[in-house]
Amino acid sequence: MAKSSDKLRCGVIGVGMGKGHVKGYQSHKRAEVVALADVDPNRLKAAATELGIARQYTDPLVMLRKENLDVVSVATPNKFHKPLTLAALEAGCHVLCEKPMAMNAAEAREMADTAEKAKRRLMINFSYRFTEQSWALKGQVASGILGDIYFARTIWHRRRGLPGFGGWFGKKDLAGGGPLIDLGVHRIDLALWLMGYPRPVWVMGGTYDPIASELARKQGREFDVEDLAVAMVRFDNGAMLEIEASWAANIAEREMMETRLFGTRGGLVQRNLNEGYAYEAELYTEREGCQFDMKLHPPVPGCPSAYYHFIESILNNTPHVATAQEGLTVMELLDAIYASAAAGEPIHVGAATPAAGRARRGKR
Ligand SMILES: NC(=O)c1ccc[n+]([C@@H]2O[C@H](COP(=O)([O-])OP(=O)(O)OC[C@H]3O[C@@H](n4cnc5c(N)ncnc54)[C@H](O)[C@@H]3O)[C@@H](O)[C@H]2O)c1
Repeated sequence: MAKSSDKLRCGVIGVGMGKGHVKGYQSHKRAEVVALADVDPNRLKAAATELGIARQYTDPLVMLRKENLDVVSVATPNKFHKPLTLAALEAGCHVLCEKPMAMNAAEAREMADTAEKAKRRLMINFSYRFTEQSWALKGQVASGILGDIYFARTIWHRRRGLPGFGGWFGKKDLAGGGPLIDLGVHRIDLALWLMGYPRPVWVMGGTYDPIASELARKQGREFDVEDLAVAMVRFDNGAMLEIEASWAANIAEREMMETRLFGTRGGLVQRNLNEGYAYEAELYTEREGCQFDMKLHPPVPGCPSAYYHFIESILNNTPHVATAQEGLTVMELLDAIYASAAAGEPIHVGAATPAAGRARRGKR
């Protein structure tokens, strides 16, 4: 609970995506963003002016020491998610950490364990759950309309969409991987959440970089992650999931997202519209021998933003979604996909070590 008023004192680290966190907290009347931190002083000043935040820090650890915060968002390049999350938890804060949770499962496990020991919350910003269509579909699946889910396919492809080409997103030591760890995590989480987070057991994965590596060579930029990843996953309940993620692929669409679930009594799809960031959702089932298609028509009541949901959960002492354990499961899956791609053979989830995965990461 708030340390000095009836409002939760929030701080945000990293003012790229972090600006969205500020606006999300500002939408809750019992949350106040009191401070921002970013190592780039110019970017920090511009964000603070734009968002009306008086206190600014170029060292997030100083912010944690001085500001007596209740809630901290970590929205930096992936490499810093673990150290900053640990520091914020140890300072007594609840943490909303950006996706991917960490660089690998070992880091994610340490973060989850630290949160548990500190008795603080750790939520992962799997923001694609927080769309009206995803939220409504979760309710439909929970009602049992699909029966048993035995197969799913979840994809996010871009024709040419390499974020900040030559910057940190394409550097393994800062990002941990390419589109799989960047875009793939959202679609993997969405599929797993709708499937009830079954336990992954076996993974067969492949990673490729033909388009980006050629571009990097021609433009003299650094890029050492994949530009496309695919995987097939088997779960302990026998179900399977197909995953595809790319920043560069020779396809018609600028941006293509789709998650499909196949169940014994029904199926569903959630996909983006017009190659953009609006969505539609449909359900397919049978009634009295007839094949029935249903379309969800938003607005669907009850879909908060991730930030609003986190604040509400803290204030009401209710569980939040997108937990550290779920973030850890996604990281275990990613480690196994990268390790399988490197080994060229199926990998048992849990047997994958990041070192093995990274050192021998797949080429064609
Ligand atoms: N949930 C989503 O939909 C979504 C969307 C975009 C990005 N993200 C995630 O947000 C994170 C940040 O991505 P971005 O697009 O904002 O990147 P960005 O490069 O635009 O911004 C990152 C900011 O962090 C700052 N920074 C770097 N190291 C720091 C440190 N040690 N301490 C404090 N500040 C530091 C940088 O100066 C920069 O201003 C990534 O993990 C990314 O995957 C999530």
